[in-house]
Amino acid sequence: MEARHKRCFMQWQPHYQKCQQAILKAVELCLKKHTIVIMGAGSLNDIPLDSLSQQFQKVVLVDLVFLKQARKKAADYANVFLEEADVSNRLSGLFSGEGAFDDAVNWALPQEADCLVSLNLATQLPLIPVSWLMQHEGLDEKGAGRLGKEMIQSHLNLLENFQGVRCLIADRRISEFDASGELIDQFDPAWDVVLPDVIDSWEWQVIPVGESNQNTSQMNQVGVSIW
Ligand SMILES: C[S@@+](CC[C@H](N)C(=O)[O-])C[C@H]1O[C@@H](n2cnc3c(N)ncnc32)[C@H](O)[C@@H]1O
Repeated sequence: MEARHKRCFMQWQPHYQKCQQAILKAVELCLKKHTIVIMGAGSLNDIPLDSLSQQFQKVVLVDLVFLKQARKKAADYANVFLEEADVSNRLSGLFSGEGAFDDAVNWALPQEADCLVSLNLATQLPLIPVSWLMQHEGLDEKGAGRLGKEMIQSHLNLLENFQGVRCLIADRRISEFDASGELIDQFDPAWDVVLPDVIDSWEWQVIPVGESNQNTSQMNQVGVSIW
């Protein structure tokens, strides 16, 4: 992702800025600012780290994996903590025998959290497990749909059951275009799970023309819900 961000800086930077603004909007609603938890932190590029580190006693960033660059950024702040874990708590149980996620670490939301952010993660959660299971364990289309919905719905439940301020930043619609700019596919990346109403949204050109081997491009509509 970091390499594509470099190549597509013009298209990706506005998206990252919008994500940062949305997180700060959610933070304004927090009555207490002890701990903020961000799930799907990845590169940290879409996180306003300076501001969060000043406003909260603890900033907890969670992802399956943090690469060197993210670790380096986080190391500049004494109160920013990285947790490598599976926020779905499903991965280690999904694979029989030897699987890619045998060692995925289960995760518990810190009790003291005042704000919980899901950052460009909700629709991504099922992607790797579903495609792995289809390839290696014969999961069919129907089973894939069921698992996808289930994983997104339980992520939503995690947010719903949280008592503090919740912020969901997620893809709401994915559109693919051919080289001439003609729309060739459009779908709901949430597998028809109904996500909360958006208070803001924007178009993110994730794959500009020239980035894909098929010479197609991809535009994601990203929406923000804060409640
Ligand atoms: C679209 S990326 C967004 C990352 C980051 N917000 C950014 O823009 O750099 C989705 C992130 O979700 C993480 N992820 C996917 N499944 C996860 C899981 N089960 N638990 C924790 N993180 C997960 C991926 O590792 C990836 O960093």
